Amino acid sequence: MVDMCKKAEDLKFMKIAIKLGQKGEGFTEPNPLVGAVVVKNGKIISYGFHKSFGQKHAERMALSHITEKNTTLYVPLEPCSHYGKTPPCTDLIIKKSVKRVVISIKDPNPVVGGKGIEKLKKNSIEVDLGCLKYLYSEVNRHYLEYMKEKKPYVTIKAGVSIDSKLTDKYKNSKWITGKELREYSHSLRGEFSAILVGVKTIIEDNPLLNIREKAWLGKRLYRIVLDSNNIMPQDLKIFKHQENFPLIIFSSKNADNKNKKVKDHFFVKPNKDGLDVREVLHILYKKGIASVMVEGGGNVINSFLKERLYNEIILFCADKLIGAKESVELFSSGMSILNPIIFRKREILEFNSGYILRGFK
Ligand SMILES: NC(=O)c1ccc[n+]([C@@H]2O[C@H](COP(=O)([O-])OP(=O)(O)OC[C@H]3O[C@@H](n4cnc5c(N)ncnc54)[C@H](OP(=O)(O)O)[C@@H]3O)[C@@H](O)[C@H]2O)c1
Repeated sequence: MVDMCKKAEDLKFMKIAIKLGQKGEGFTEPNPLVGAVVVKNGKIISYGFHKSFGQKHAERMALSHITEKNTTLYVPLEPCSHYGKTPPCTDLIIKKSVKRVVISIKDPNPVVGGKGIEKLKKNSIEVDLGCLKYLYSEVNRHYLEYMKEKKPYVTIKAGVSIDSKLTDKYKNSKWITGKELREYSHSLRGEFSAILVGVKTIIEDNPLLNIREKAWLGKRLYRIVLDSNNIMPQDLKIFKHQENFPLIIFSSKNADNKNKKVKDHFFVKPNKDGLDVREVLHILYKKGIASVMVEGGGNVINSFLKERLYNEIILFCADKLIGAKESVELFSSGMSILNPIIFRKREILEFNSGYILRGFK
């Protein structure tokens, strides 16, 4: 892997710009995470980041108030050159007489796609592309999947025992992992645009599926339920708090009951496992949902794994053996040993009560 950083200081300032962009995590989607740093004579004179969807772009935050000319701007994503919710950032960069712009990656959004870089170059601004492109592609992976693959980034998350059971034989799942893992697991929801579960989890556990962590206050999170036969009773907790946590339901085109229970109630193709999850993801993409965390239960996770429709898997593993064929399995249909699910990269975090395994496709 080769990163195209022209100068050693490019590495330093681009890393700061990327870190700044991460402050918008969970709030910018379907927009990217972008930070920007303005440097003059080796010193940072201004900076900014894209705080949330619809708000000012990072370049605008960093450049609007400066008067210095001949600066270097570090911005990991190619600046936009079109009118969207905000005016083009390239025009401001030109107006502020920036001398050099260092960029990690081109914007895969077809309305930008290299046009921003072209415009800067046409206006005699030096452009260097490729600095920390691997780091930034990892940080901005939700946006890149959404733009390039035209589907949300899918993360499968589950609390499991050592023998990969999601529940015991009585279908109890709450106490599989301990308090500290459960709290962290809940707070992860803040990083995503949506969470998705199967109707059995909703009916058996009656969860709220909201975000309780204060750090994510004001964040909007979509809650998605796959309910093929449209049987979910409307007095369940999931129907509450829809102002901040809108509910989206998917049912089958063949369901007897076609009454919509919420504004976003879609009727899609069924298959032998339930609903066609590819069609579900396509509708979510069209709605502007850039990332989904699939939280279960076992049947739904199994469908996503079977179709290899995942980008990342996060397992909260408790130091417990649960056993029993009646308990819910993580991956009941399984894969051949010749073609298993393997991770390109993995991270393991150890806790007193177990560990977290994060694997990337
Ligand atoms: N340990 C954990 O992390 C964890 C997390 C979540 C849940 N759980 C536990 O898991 C249990 C429920 O899991 P479960 O496997 O029995 O049910 P589930 O995955 O929650 O729901 C399965 C149901 O979803 C519907 N569905 C629609 N499309 C589907 C598709 N493409 N693939 C699979 N299902 C689809 C089907 O019902 P219809 O045909 O009626 O639509 C199916 O029966 C609960 O006891 C819950 O507590 C544990």
